[in-house]
Amino acid sequence: MTKNFANRISIIEAEALELLDKAHSETELEEWRIAVLGRRGQITTVLRGISDLDPDSRRTAGAAANQLKIRLQAAFEDSKGRINSDETVASTGTSDRIDVTLPGRKVSSGSLHPTTQIIREISNAFNTMGFQVLDGPEVELDAYNFQKLNIPAHHPARDMWNSLWIDRASESGEYPLLLRTHTSPMQIRVMEKNDPPIRVIVPGKAYRYEATDATHEWQFCQIEGLAIDRDITFADLKGTLEEFARIIFGAKRKARFRCDFFPFVEPGAEMSIDCFKCDGQGCRVCGNSGWIEIMGAGMVHPKVLEGVGYDPQLYSGFAFGMGAERIAMLRHGIDDIRHFYTNDIRFLEQFK
Ligand code: DAH
Repeated sequence: MTKNFANRISIIEAEALELLDKAHSETELEEWRIAVLGRRGQITTVLRGISDLDPDSRRTAGAAANQLKIRLQAAFEDSKGRINSDETVASTGTSDRIDVTLPGRKVSSGSLHPTTQIIREISNAFNTMGFQVLDGPEVELDAYNFQKLNIPAHHPARDMWNSLWIDRASESGEYPLLLRTHTSPMQIRVMEKNDPPIRVIVPGKAYRYEATDATHEWQFCQIEGLAIDRDITFADLKGTLEEFARIIFGAKRKARFRCDFFPFVEPGAEMSIDCFKCDGQGCRVCGNSGWIEIMGAGMVHPKVLEGVGYDPQLYSGFAFGMGAERIAMLRHGIDDIRHFYTNDIRFLEQFK
């Protein structure tokens, strides 16, 4: 190889590398590639020039030219990598930049079911008055759902509760099972296990063999209450339930108690509050009566007390039971109980 040729190669290399250093975009890089490594680029010219050399120098000159080509190609690949990552950084800097002035995206979240919410509220209200919260079985024995509550087999009072029997035969069997028609059987279970004084609240599901409509569901929730001690009177019942109504419906509401019949209480009563819609004037919500019934209650029947081994001469008490959905309907102005269990998100979302 002639000295001249070797010089030319090192000059070409130095200049090419200097230019490559100045290429800052993909377009500039491509221009450089065409000018240096392209078909009509500098390397091609150098390779062509080899044929003009004397035969002795050609081999070494060819090898040197090829080495140059390999080095420049490698330098080109390096620069390509550098520019690509530079461009990514540059574009992140503009289009993907976070605009902190944009309004935030709303994260959707679930919430407690309105029945759960009202059960918790009511339980808390009684909790502050010293009542303990318990739960009990939904599949119940005839003995607890009826007999021990002073409702013997074949008694007409059974018609007050349309029952869902676990199987038809069980109705007459030794241990007839049904889905509890109310939470009252828990009164018996609590009294059988504990001595007075007793103050409990039992929220839970109840089931009825019933056609559904705006005010009836075949499955719903009740909240049972029971207080037993010496010297408990009807005045205690009234005081406790009036305090409950004040907490749940507000101090403005008036309460009214009227006679009603339930086999497990004597006397029995229904409790109403004056209509929140018309303030007792009479409207569609209260059926023009000015009053809305919210629960059944009464003094625990002496026969029920005797049945669990309490002496009715020594102990007395009151019990009450209310529909949880009904209370929620009154609180929120919901006009159809079926909304609670059709899982329509538009309904449920209103109780966040
Ligand atoms: N268990 C009754 C029902 O489902 C409601 C009830 C009435 C419960 C009077 C009571 C009570 O504890 O004393 O219709």
